[in-house]
Amino acid sequence: MTERRYFIETFGCQMNVNDSEKVAGLLEAEGFAAAASADDADFVFVNTCAVREKAAEKLYSSLGRLRRAGARERRIGVGGCVAQLQGREVLARAPGIDLLVGTHNISRVPELLRRADGTGPVVDLDRRADAFDVPPALVAHRNPVRAYVTAIEGCNHVCSFCVVPRTRGPEVCRGVDEIAAEIEQLVERGFPEVMLLGQTVNAYRHGEHDFVALLERVDRIHGLRRLRFTTSHPSHVDRRLARAFARLPRLCPYLHLPVQSGSDPILASMRRGYTAGGYGEAIAMLREECPGLALTSDVIVGYPGETEADFEATLDLVARSRFDGLFAFKYSPRPGTAALRLRDDVGEEEKTRRLRVLNELQQRWQAELNGRRIGRVEEVLFESAPESHRLSGRTRDFRIVHSDGGEQAVGTLCRVEITGAGPNSLRGRILH
Ligand code: SAH
Ligand code: F3S
Repeated sequence: MTERRYFIETFGCQMNVNDSEKVAGLLEAEGFAAAASADDADFVFVNTCAVREKAAEKLYSSLGRLRRAGARERRIGVGGCVAQLQGREVLARAPGIDLLVGTHNISRVPELLRRADGTGPVVDLDRRADAFDVPPALVAHRNPVRAYVTAIEGCNHVCSFCVVPRTRGPEVCRGVDEIAAEIEQLVERGFPEVMLLGQTVNAYRHGEHDFVALLERVDRIHGLRRLRFTTSHPSHVDRRLARAFARLPRLCPYLHLPVQSGSDPILASMRRGYTAGGYGEAIAMLREECPGLALTSDVIVGYPGETEADFEATLDLVARSRFDGLFAFKYSPRPGTAALRLRDDVGEEEKTRRLRVLNELQQRWQAELNGRRIGRVEEVLFESAPESHRLSGRTRDFRIVHSDGGEQAVGTLCRVEITGAGPNSLRGRILH
């Protein structure tokens, strides 16, 4: 019998990437090998994202492509947030799916696949299952140097625009010892860097341990070189966390702290639990305690009722905050969210304009900020060499650096002199 092959297409956030790594590992444990493309696979798994409508629709274009791509006998599985959110509707909209699995049940993919005999879809959307029951040793980490490790599943916030609490359920934290044991294994497997994951990872609490206690524990792990985490919510940022950045040697000075808007009435409607002023104070405190901290953020433009003045308040906040990076999105109404009751009254063209104005402002600033790095020497951990003699990696503060050099530099910390800069990346030369 020829070897069975799988292919996974992943949309969305790091949690989804990590879930796909778990599915990949489980399949490999069953004797599957990775296929180079969906065309070569006996099993294709599409791991979906529901956060914006456009992201959700990608599932259907992906399935359409698969259907057109020939007559090969293969099973198709759909998982992730669209599967959990839309349930059997997915099957009605897209015939030919063999397996539909929710966000809590990915550990059952191999078993469901065995049951899928081509006669009809096998469905498992059970929300009670434990999402942490994939053995850590199996996870097939995609990045050769940075391993994702889940600290929290789900989210207890109720942001008016966000579908994630519906698709991923309430927060469940993993135990500190379990997380530390997984990271010890990863270090043994040769991973120098770990990124702790959670939708609001800094809300972590397990027994007596809060998030800073978890960081302290992980930071002591012998052999680990770099520690990061994402995503954080401003409501759970305090001086202890800020000091942890300055104090813990492996914890890298980088924080993704979504603000969403600079307008107080919009923030209140979004139920974010802070004001623009409060956010400003939080980042000032972070920078006071850890002066080299790189901060990135998310912003939504065109939220229901967002006036020109509200948008300008966002521009002001972004200009003042001097973020190291920004991800800006057009508001997209999502099923089952509180904001769905509000009229989506900012027109598509106006959303596009606001997005462009915001991105231009941020890109100009980033070009200037990155330009200041030229001539400096940075510690870079290279993670890939996509084309020969072209490496890419990250500084401790998560800036992308491209450099000449071979595969052998991947996975080692290099001293790199920065020789050029653009708004989104740096160029450098490895010093020997
Ligand atoms: N805590 C999460 C946030 C999930 S969604 C995390 O780990 O990233 C990621 C970002 O998508 C949010 O910060 C927000 O800026 C954006 N987003 C969420 N729902 C949205 C919607 N309905 N329309 C547009 N953008 C949205
Ligand atoms: Fe979504 Fe807000 Fe949680 S953006 S993931 S509900 S913190």
